[in-house]
Amino acid sequence: MTSPAERGLRESATFDRATIAGIQHAAEHGVYDIRGWGAKRAVPHFDDLLFLGASMSRYPLEGYRERCDTDVVLGDRHAQQPLHLATPVTIAGMSFGALSAQAKESLGRGASEVGTSTTTGDGGMTEEERGHSKTLVYQILPSRYGMNPDHLRAADAIEVVLGQGAKPGGGGMLLGQKISERVAEMRTLPAGIDQRSACRHPDWTGPDDLAIKILELREITDWQKPIYVKVGATRTYYDVKLAVAVGADVIVVDGMQGGTAATQEVFIENVGIPTLAAIPQAVQALSELGMHRKVQLIVSGGVRTGADVAKAMALGADAVAIGTGALVALGDNHPRYAAEYEKIGSAAGFYDDFQDGRDPAGITTQDPELAARLDPVEGGRRIANYLRVLTLEAQTIARACGKAHLQHLEPEDLVALTIEASAMARVPLAGTDWIPGRSGF
Ligand SMILES: Cc1cc2nc3c(=O)[nH]c(=O)nc-3n(C[C@H](O)[C@H](O)[C@H](O)COP(=O)(O)O)c2cc1C
Repeated sequence: MTSPAERGLRESATFDRATIAGIQHAAEHGVYDIRGWGAKRAVPHFDDLLFLGASMSRYPLEGYRERCDTDVVLGDRHAQQPLHLATPVTIAGMSFGALSAQAKESLGRGASEVGTSTTTGDGGMTEEERGHSKTLVYQILPSRYGMNPDHLRAADAIEVVLGQGAKPGGGGMLLGQKISERVAEMRTLPAGIDQRSACRHPDWTGPDDLAIKILELREITDWQKPIYVKVGATRTYYDVKLAVAVGADVIVVDGMQGGTAATQEVFIENVGIPTLAAIPQAVQALSELGMHRKVQLIVSGGVRTGADVAKAMALGADAVAIGTGALVALGDNHPRYAAEYEKIGSAAGFYDDFQDGRDPAGITTQDPELAARLDPVEGGRRIANYLRVLTLEAQTIARACGKAHLQHLEPEDLVALTIEASAMARVPLAGTDWIPGRSGF
């Protein structure tokens, strides 16, 4: 049998096979597609940037003899007890409910081993993650699912979530299959029924109210704990300015490639801006207020490698947060589950259809038998290894650029491969001194 291409058939770029399948699915079932993970479409990203390693005009540092520090302090603007992390790679907020208790414990074990933080998520704090996370950031989300004032004090920092990169302006979903008795009890909602998370906080509508809310949180925690504000990347320049104005110690900016547990596909692919475009806007806003490096910037959305970490930091981030990469490190999308992925209509590497609770890797599930497949000690080892590699890779690049600390990386170390990336990241197109929309040197 000859292939369609051999028979001279040409696939449409507009109506490609995924689009055709989407239309057929909509027509058949009358429901839109919900999936996990972030935007799959190609957008300008860290891959479109390159580092200018040192040669004559700069000299590099020697890997085996010369230091390149990686530590970061987060939240020293107002908090009495800022976080001091050994690596700027942190674990992003992922809800218990979306993730199994074993996955949460694994993340805590791995992050603690390398001296970084983990973050709770929609649905509250579990014993597994508090017990195994040396440094735990507690999220306050619009849904207030699992919100417990005692947990504010049990946490090491607090993150007020205004939005996520995968769905800025929208709320998340947790399908009924994942609402086990335990998840339901924590959220004080019935078991087995789909849950939608709210898209905005119930008790404030704008920055003035949020400033009061943050003051309340500071009083509850006796001004000890850093307060983060997390936004999905859209009007990042203004959002960051407002976050500084309302008193944030740390700002988390999550780009459109950022993962989610479950959201409408149309939302994931069509709302928000790429991580690359958001970072310079955030840094500009902070710099204009004289707050760059005083209010720390954590960037997330598509961070996979140490090169991504180094690029985010060179553009001005103080730290990064990872979600999807950590789940892959735990074993998600592994070819060993190929047969089981096929049974749920998916395939390793495609990331679809795990949000409904049948994840064979035991990570994004509440099914006790599937979840038991993930050994938290082994999971912790894998996370620690992955975090170590990310840090070592970023250090390697920083040394090659002659930097004795990851935070010394700067936009001047970068060039862009495409005009789009150059315009968004505000670094010159490789081999030129040209940044679209800006004058040369
Ligand atoms: C399974 C999963 C669950 C998530 N749950 C939450 C959540 O409860 N609260 C939140 O602020 N973000 C949540 N996120 C988003 C992450 O905090 C983070 O912004 C995103 O994963 C970063 O992008 P990356 O996945 O490309 O690393 C979730 C992401 C995933 C993959």
